[in-house]
Amino acid sequence: MCGIVGYVGPKDCSDVLVSALTKLEYRGYDSAGIAVFDNSEIKTVKTKGKLKDLEDKLVETGKPEGHVGIGHTRWATHGEPSDVNSHPHSGARVTIVHNGIIENYIELKEFLTSKGRTFISDTDTEVIAQLLDYKYNGNPLETISSVMAELKGSFALGIMFRDFPDRVFAVRRESPLIVGVAKGECFIASDVPAILKYTKNYYLLDHDEIATLTKDGAAFVDKHLAPVQKDLKTADWDMEAAEKGGYPHFMIKEIYEQPTAIKTTVIPRIKDGLPCLEECGITLEKIKDFKNIAIVACGTAMHAGMVGKYVIESLARVPVTVDIASEFRYRDPIIGKGDLVIIISQSGETADSLAALRLAKQTGAVTLAIVNAKGSSIAREADMLIYTLAGPEIAVASTKAYITQLSVMYLFAFELALAKQTISTDECKRLVSSLLKMPDAVQNIIDNCEEKCKYIATKLITADNLLYIGRGLDYALSMEGSLKLKEVSYIHSESYAAGELKHGTISLIDDGMPVIAVATQSAIIAKTISNIVEVKSRGAKVILVCTDVCARDLNDGIADHIIEMPHSEELLMPITAVVPLQLLAYYTSVDRGIDPDKPRNLAKSVTVE
Ligand code: F6R
Repeated sequence: MCGIVGYVGPKDCSDVLVSALTKLEYRGYDSAGIAVFDNSEIKTVKTKGKLKDLEDKLVETGKPEGHVGIGHTRWATHGEPSDVNSHPHSGARVTIVHNGIIENYIELKEFLTSKGRTFISDTDTEVIAQLLDYKYNGNPLETISSVMAELKGSFALGIMFRDFPDRVFAVRRESPLIVGVAKGECFIASDVPAILKYTKNYYLLDHDEIATLTKDGAAFVDKHLAPVQKDLKTADWDMEAAEKGGYPHFMIKEIYEQPTAIKTTVIPRIKDGLPCLEECGITLEKIKDFKNIAIVACGTAMHAGMVGKYVIESLARVPVTVDIASEFRYRDPIIGKGDLVIIISQSGETADSLAALRLAKQTGAVTLAIVNAKGSSIAREADMLIYTLAGPEIAVASTKAYITQLSVMYLFAFELALAKQTISTDECKRLVSSLLKMPDAVQNIIDNCEEKCKYIATKLITADNLLYIGRGLDYALSMEGSLKLKEVSYIHSESYAAGELKHGTISLIDDGMPVIAVATQSAIIAKTISNIVEVKSRGAKVILVCTDVCARDLNDGIADHIIEMPHSEELLMPITAVVPLQLLAYYTSVDRGIDPDKPRNLAKSVTVE
């Protein structure tokens, strides 16, 4: 949650900070602010609301003029969104921006209060600012290091000391932070897209490292203030990839990017028609003995794991559990040596997923991360790593990251099934060849189903409640469809295993309630159809998402609307069938006047528990 930026260099600092923050608004957008050295004074402008509100305020109050500063876009944790709780926060001689959560802020606040300090906000961040000021001894690095020793929790901080108007300091623990460098200027940012307009070169700050940024470059020390040499990285994302490129929203742009995202993710991992994951540290020998697999993730990534469970169990015959990371980490899970724990995460920074990874490692299980953000914490800490090569995903609602997570789950399941010898090489080649057809299949659905989804969305906008139903893989997929719709349209929606409806939930069905049924699996289509008939006869308005093969056997009037997709390899159908569900969610959101890229109360990267 929250995005932080910082700048030192010849450009107009206020402009650079605001421009960089626009690329981080996905991390939080309930307030924003900047602080800039203006004639050796730190001038702060901040406000509740979106970045646009900050821009208006900067026009109103006059923007700070200077070349050194920090900025923040907030997703509130401690204290409601308000002007006073917005960042930056200050002590007398120090001003900071913060992403993360300080767990012991109450104790620290009590301590500082006992020393006569007063606080004006409800935030944990102001406690850090006051503590830095309290401990300040004229040496910023020593002061930061001694404050770090007192802090419990997660933080990425941009810090300015009043006595050092030519520099910005940065430090991180758990929360992500990069340091960008170009000729004569330096940047800090929570994520790479923020700096791409200015430079592609950056350093990844490691846990408990401190950076000092001046116009001459960046220097790094560890928490004991010993110098650290770091490798310069080069972003392979360009600005255009991080921009909307003419689309009205990132969400629709990212839905459209899915065929390319699948190609980019899958093609480099195929050799001679078979999966090849050696570059990710995965060989047949290494994975052949796993007896149990636990997939752990949150939200959409967990839904990709649900599909993974069906596919791995069906092809490789290895039992798989799927856990929500926040549950897994506190339930003393039964895993250990000989087991594999797969963590799926777009951001690679989700606090609960990272904690689950660390727990899994402690038990002796082998860990595999499936991650989109390069160099993120989960990517760095797992034993094996497969990157989803979806590129930057900016919309809060995950689409292309999900589809690439599915693609990787399939590749891994194929490889595992080969290792376990539960499928033949020929069968594996056949499956791989079907997977390679998925980019075209997804494109075909975008081309042929979008108008229908747009139309059906107009029928959904007045609904208060909605159900998604399906069986097997279709049930796993309907979970994702339901989440997508509720998060961007604010319509209450649940997904249900179709066969379970009559054990209680069917009582919710009343006249006109929309039910979205997913039916792509011919072996169980008849069963799903019976469930559709049950809800239809109780007044539901049924929207059926099915293949043309399934549609052939349907009686007239079984559904109010049918979204028909070309039949493809049934095991792979979630990859194509998710597309109409994403489009339905997107257009319902837009028709309800909501900004699908920034749904209320949500942030893209959930780096707090
Ligand atoms: C929903 C969505 C979230 C994320 C979840 C995990 O559209 O994006 O449910 O999937 O917060 O995030 P990552 O994948 O970054 O760990």
